[in-house]
Amino acid sequence: MLKNDLLLKALAGQKVERPPVWMMRQAGRYLPDFRKLKEKYDFFERVRNPEMACEITIMPVRQVGVDAAILFSDILVVPQAMGIDIKMIESKGPVVPTPIRSSEQIDALITTDMPARLDYVMKAIRLTLGELNSSVPLIGFAGAPCTILCYVVQGGSSKNFDRALDFCDEHPELAHRLLSRITDCTIDYLNAKADAGVHAIQLFDSWAGLLDEDQYKEFSHQYNKKIISAINLKVPVILFAKDRGDELDQLMDCGASAMGIDWTIYPESARRLTQNRITLQGNLEPSVLLEGADVVREETMKMINRFGPQRYIANLGHGILPETPVASAIAFVETVKSFRIGQN
Ligand code: CP3
Repeated sequence: MLKNDLLLKALAGQKVERPPVWMMRQAGRYLPDFRKLKEKYDFFERVRNPEMACEITIMPVRQVGVDAAILFSDILVVPQAMGIDIKMIESKGPVVPTPIRSSEQIDALITTDMPARLDYVMKAIRLTLGELNSSVPLIGFAGAPCTILCYVVQGGSSKNFDRALDFCDEHPELAHRLLSRITDCTIDYLNAKADAGVHAIQLFDSWAGLLDEDQYKEFSHQYNKKIISAINLKVPVILFAKDRGDELDQLMDCGASAMGIDWTIYPESARRLTQNRITLQGNLEPSVLLEGADVVREETMKMINRFGPQRYIANLGHGILPETPVASAIAFVETVKSFRIGQN
């Protein structure tokens, strides 16, 4: 039994005494202790070392007081396990020296033994669960297949992922073959994560907003739905489809327990579209945390009151910015934790 199961209650639609709070990308980046590790070890070295991944995962639980841990890892470990070379270059982000664009490359991808190939993640999960000692739930995650396609076809980060989108337009059958293979691997990976003991899963579709409505249904949503329905009987799933708030009414049929939303949609509109039938997570603009603690408190209170405290998980609308002062992250978390239903 977890000592703090607010997140799981909110995901199950059960009544809570206050909303749970965590922050996307809370493990790393802005934390001084993480920066120290960064000076000594390369990014994927940190990811592949279970002891270090465990240590980084726990940092925001101990130092910021969030109601859930999210395993320190990356969405790109899945395409790496499929045999794609991916490097993380300082100040540039991910780089894929040989982008995947041909039929032969897609056929050559490895699609078997994902749990064994990603065993370092399973080890990190078991270590972290031991260290957390049932204090708060542990969230596991994966990238949505279309967001992964964006990186591996483009060849790395990009503002608009033009090459990846052109690839989907010009070679839809190749794109679907690639997406299907990523989907199958992601399902095996997430099943193994659930078996290793994570309490919930978040699917990050960070580049969902690059597609138009029809493209999104064709190249992204159907695959997300397949992944979610393959694991939602084991663990609850949160789908974060960035910049698609306007279609929440259509997307909420995906089988997720919660929809993560960014700040481009008002809480009231998100509630109206979902008719209070699903838990919502979000959506403070991450740059609010660059303001003083007073502004953080005020904006956070406003946000909770606009969503309403039930069927709600307080979070940012995207990842915490690296330049965020730790004190502001604490002010955000403390404000949610001090919220008492009926007293605000
Ligand atoms: O709370 C956490 O931070 C948990 C771990 C986590 C990381 N990446 C660690 C990381 C999570 C949940 C991710 C997900 C991820 N990775 C996404 C989806 C989330 C989102 O923000 O939309 C994406 C698109 C990636 C791919 C990726 N990884 C990029 C584009 C970059 C470079 C830019 C950046 O974020 O700094 C990374 C590197 C990365 N992943 C870092 C961390 C802590 C920073 C690099 C470093 O520490 O050396």
